Amino acid sequence: MKFFVDTADIAEIKALLPSGLVDGVTTNPSLIMKSGRDFREVVAEICGLLDGPVSAEVTALEADKMISEGESLAGIADNVCVKLPLTMDGLIACKALTGNGIKTNVTLCFSANQALLAAKAGATFISPFIGRLDDINIDGMDLIREIRVIYDNYDFRTEILAASIRSANHVKEAALTGADVATVPPSVLKGLANHPLTDKGLKAFLDDWAKTGQKII
Ligand code: G3P
Repeated sequence: MKFFVDTADIAEIKALLPSGLVDGVTTNPSLIMKSGRDFREVVAEICGLLDGPVSAEVTALEADKMISEGESLAGIADNVCVKLPLTMDGLIACKALTGNGIKTNVTLCFSANQALLAAKAGATFISPFIGRLDDINIDGMDLIREIRVIYDNYDFRTEILAASIRSANHVKEAALTGADVATVPPSVLKGLANHPLTDKGLKAFLDDWAKTGQKII
């Protein structure tokens, strides 16, 4: 399973890169707003940090304008992945941009039928929003399960990118359900390494080691 980090915060991305866990980055207009930075500038900077896909979202609503924005964003760097909303115009833009060899991430997916359409439009990634479904008492993970079955039934190459991930449990469930990628906020990604028994065990080992009076180097 690949991990993308869901942030436009350069410092957070840089801090996570040495772990080798970051296969890509996703941004959205809200994350750009939170960064307080110029959109194109921050996307260019992120793209320079890693080879993996960096999602940058269009803001136009009509297909022709989405295509122009998408082509412009794709011109920033080879690893830009153009993020498009799951609307009929977004699907038209997806078809056109993928046809031109541009990577696409169709976002704001809340149903299996929407995901089916995105795959037929040639999306590189489909982004089902787990947390936002959970927010309205619909099990977001059921959506991942359904999309997995549909994509496998028809051998669609579109990768399932579990988005709106809010917890370590979401990550585990997405992995168990067969999502290809999870895009995860930095805090959640860092938290995956934590376990109280790891901390307790480490302390016990180090206490005993101190009693030996030895040093490794
Ligand atoms: O990748 C989409 C994601 O950022 C949305 O997350 O927590 O705002 O629903 P959230």
